[in-house]
Amino acid sequence: MTKEEERIYDGELGWANQTCMKILVRLGELFEAEKLIPISSAHVSGVSYKTLGDAPIEFLKALADAGGKARVKTTLNPQSFDPEYLAKKLSKHLRDRQLTVLKQFERMSLTPSLTCTPYYLAKPKRGAHLAWAESSAVVYANSLLGAWTNREGGPSALAAAIIGKTPEYGMHKPENRKPVVLVRVEAQLLNETEFGALGICLGKILGNRIPVVSGLQGASKDKLKQFSAALGTTGMASMFDYHSRSGDRGNEEITVETKEIRNTIEVLSTSSTSKPDLVFIGCPHCSLKEIRQIAKLVDGKRVGKGTEFWVCTSRYIKENARDYVTKIENTGAHVLADVCTVVSWTETLCINTIMTNSAKTAYYAPTLNKAETTLAPLRECISAAFKG
Ligand code: F3S
Repeated sequence: MTKEEERIYDGELGWANQTCMKILVRLGELFEAEKLIPISSAHVSGVSYKTLGDAPIEFLKALADAGGKARVKTTLNPQSFDPEYLAKKLSKHLRDRQLTVLKQFERMSLTPSLTCTPYYLAKPKRGAHLAWAESSAVVYANSLLGAWTNREGGPSALAAAIIGKTPEYGMHKPENRKPVVLVRVEAQLLNETEFGALGICLGKILGNRIPVVSGLQGASKDKLKQFSAALGTTGMASMFDYHSRSGDRGNEEITVETKEIRNTIEVLSTSSTSKPDLVFIGCPHCSLKEIRQIAKLVDGKRVGKGTEFWVCTSRYIKENARDYVTKIENTGAHVLADVCTVVSWTETLCINTIMTNSAKTAYYAPTLNKAETTLAPLRECISAAFKG
């Protein structure tokens, strides 16, 4: 540790800084890091009161009371409602608890971005060291943006934000960023849902091993975002390589065929209804391009009776897509910022069946939302939402 780090560790800069330094030092010891390195930004998960619960609120409050302040730009994951639409449907108790959580983060100078796609707000520089929680964003940042981040938990990302540093191990070291498994995709992936299904399927096989994925046709950034989110859902790999920049291919080979993709989608589709209670697009949060595409597909239509249609995105994208948002909302759909279905209280809204194009949501919804799911591409989701 440097002299300044030792002073923080010894408590000279107060309890909040000392606690955060202790968390980072302990983490560094566990992973045999030799030093702490400065980070350009942090992203904190565990913001939704639904997933956080009551216990951590006292800790957040204590940190804020003791003057803990982020030293680097720090964004936050989604919370459990948006203030315009869902907030009105929830009890005062739930709203108040959520606002208490958010208040503590704001007291510590964290930006209430409330999105899992912080890279649309500020794209990290290639090679920048980050301390991001939220697995979908971590895989995306390492693989598509060339930034360097471990997969932090909420507390370690917060500690890194307050200290402005993270232990140098894992994805912060070049030798750990090389692919060790070659994945040959023999299936022709037709849409974003199939890219997600590939991620679910591979995450289970790979564990924490980094793959180089060959044979990905038509891999747009939005489709790779689905793949990143799903890979981080079932596995611990923090990145993938898809055009083998490094030339490393590893010793092992895995082949993925069409039947495995089909099978994954089938397993994730637990509902048999063609009229779901909720059609949900926006896991991870929609890009501007996705919002534009949805606006084009729904123009002039009307959401079917008895169905909710939610499109989730960040407030930043929502504000930059006003015309498209108006077009979407004119159909009876809702473009929701600050929230996502998985971390919201859908059960209390009597939503028992969810149709989505996101493999990650389809994976989590049966447990976290107690809902049956249908996993299908955007166009099918849209036609279900607009069925009379
Ligand atoms: Fe984001 Fe929620 Fe999906 S946080 S990645 S939209 S589960």
